[in-house]
Amino acid sequence: MKILIINGPNLNLLGRREPGIYGSKSFEDYLSELHTLFPETDISCFQSNHEGAIIDKLHEAGFSADGIVLNAGALTHTSIALADAVAAIPAPVIEVHISNVHAREEFRRHSFIAAKCAGSITGLGLDGYRLALSYFIGRGR
Ligand code: DQA
Repeated sequence: MKILIINGPNLNLLGRREPGIYGSKSFEDYLSELHTLFPETDISCFQSNHEGAIIDKLHEAGFSADGIVLNAGALTHTSIALADAVAAIPAPVIEVHISNVHAREEFRRHSFIAAKCAGSITGLGLDGYRLALSYFIGRGR
């Protein structure tokens, strides 16, 4: 099973960025935990701070991956182009947010991509990525 994790803008700074909100673990460290937890799953990760690069990646992987876990960062709240890209691909996409976007600023409550996704996980910290992977793996059995 091939799962792609896509992290959007500023998520390269996980572990150092606002640790009170996003925690103090780097995504590299968390990703190696995911590889240990799911040794039989082909998990790859792509991070970009650029909207177009994320759209290109969705186009590239979206016709062959079994599932995509997408934390689009702030693009979640702004990008119709990203929502269109999610809608354009056959791979199921799960939207993940580390923080509880509904308990923060008003502008974070709206997601352009949510309606195009299979589901959304928000506010459960990094564990949201593991839960999304478990969903895809359970579904593929
Ligand atoms: C985030 C929430 C977004 O509102 C924010 O812009 C991010 C991270 C999260 O994982 O909680 O960059 O997607």
